[in-house]
Amino acid sequence: MAESLGQILDRLQASGGEVADQGVGALLALASRNPQRLFQMARHLDRDPATPDSDLRLAMLLALVIMLDDPGLVAALDDRLAARNPADLWPLRVLSKAAWIRGRPDAALAWQRRAIEMFPQAARPPLELAALRFATGDVDGALDLMGRTLPRVKGGGFVGLRDAQQDRMDSLRDAMAQGRDAGDRDLVGWPGRYLEPESVVPMWTDHDRDCGRDNTFRTVAAYTNTVMFDAIAGHLKADPGITAVINFGTGCGRREWEIAPTFPQVTWIGYDFSPLATDMNRQAFQRPNLRFDDDLDEALAAATATGGRVLLAHCRTADVMLPAALRRVYAACRKAGVARIVTGEYFCPSIETLNYPDFRAETADTVYWDGILVMHNYARMLPSEGYALVADAYHPVPLPHNDHGLQEALLIRLTDAVPLP
Ligand SMILES: C[S@@+](CC[C@H](N)C(=O)[O-])C[C@H]1O[C@@H](n2cnc3c(N)ncnc32)[C@H](O)[C@@H]1O
Repeated sequence: MAESLGQILDRLQASGGEVADQGVGALLALASRNPQRLFQMARHLDRDPATPDSDLRLAMLLALVIMLDDPGLVAALDDRLAARNPADLWPLRVLSKAAWIRGRPDAALAWQRRAIEMFPQAARPPLELAALRFATGDVDGALDLMGRTLPRVKGGGFVGLRDAQQDRMDSLRDAMAQGRDAGDRDLVGWPGRYLEPESVVPMWTDHDRDCGRDNTFRTVAAYTNTVMFDAIAGHLKADPGITAVINFGTGCGRREWEIAPTFPQVTWIGYDFSPLATDMNRQAFQRPNLRFDDDLDEALAAATATGGRVLLAHCRTADVMLPAALRRVYAACRKAGVARIVTGEYFCPSIETLNYPDFRAETADTVYWDGILVMHNYARMLPSEGYALVADAYHPVPLPHNDHGLQEALLIRLTDAVPLP
């Protein structure tokens, strides 16, 4: 007799629960193309008469409704699963994510602590707890836990990776010392891939498929954009004097196109240094209050011509820019009179220290992340280009499945800056 998915899940042990996580990842492929199908699956699992409630089945359901971004169902299932007091790894981790989404940071921390107590060998809970500590302001606690955890995960794999990447660390130091705008091909801060037509077209197409608001809880990229665009919407509501928003490094301009009708009095400008991505955006996304540019001066001129205040934002873009290039952008903003700079960039452990950057102690503008990527010290760079940092927050990634390398430790750093007097 065929087993139901619920029955199969019920037989999984703790480590099996982690495999279920990957199963949800596979469903994701389905979801981003057919969310309705995912919804049917959630309903089916919930009503499946073949199995009674079980921790894993409820965790699977909760993960599905998180992905569907259905707050009412998330709350109902979160309460149902929490009441069972689960003793399995994956349900504990999903509960932590649901608690964060529901604005309950203490519960999110408590579920991860419980997961660590019950499964001390599991790698993910301490990484996720460290991210939560950072996000809730316990920076010392986050650094302590990450520093003890990351070097031992993947059998010490990150230590090997660090040792193999010495040339990249040197390349960043050299580039900073020389004040360079871009790194050499395939080394730190090399933005060339974003300009080559053979990579721009598939990246734009993937971006268009993955980054829209409907994918908020299905891809880390979309979640990060939602965090930043929600912050922008908050500023627009609080300050009706803002008449233009520039999305610096927009890639595919879907998010501006989505939000433009909600704020028709605002001119939305997607800027990207790729002329090809800009052409593709102009063809694909048209609104009366939306334009795309591949020249920053033109974008800034169009924004200031609207007559009110200008907000410039960047999301997941500064991580391929060397600090000199980013400083030039901020200097151009200051010169053009940009009234607000919002950043929604990734914040990760650096491969160099196998820990989050401690920007309280770090004296460089920028530290090495991994591959070609860097992380900037916004609290240092923005003021020296004429902007005061007025908000600086860290958001963990509450997706219930794995979508991004080292996602457990990944944070979105949301900063807000206004001109210094
Ligand atoms: C990872 S994508 C992010 C796209 C979008 N902001 C998002 O978060 O979904 C990075 C984008 O930044 C653009 N980019 C990279 N370096 C840039 C620079 N120096 N000036 C302008 N755009 C840049 C690339 O062309 C690419 O479209």
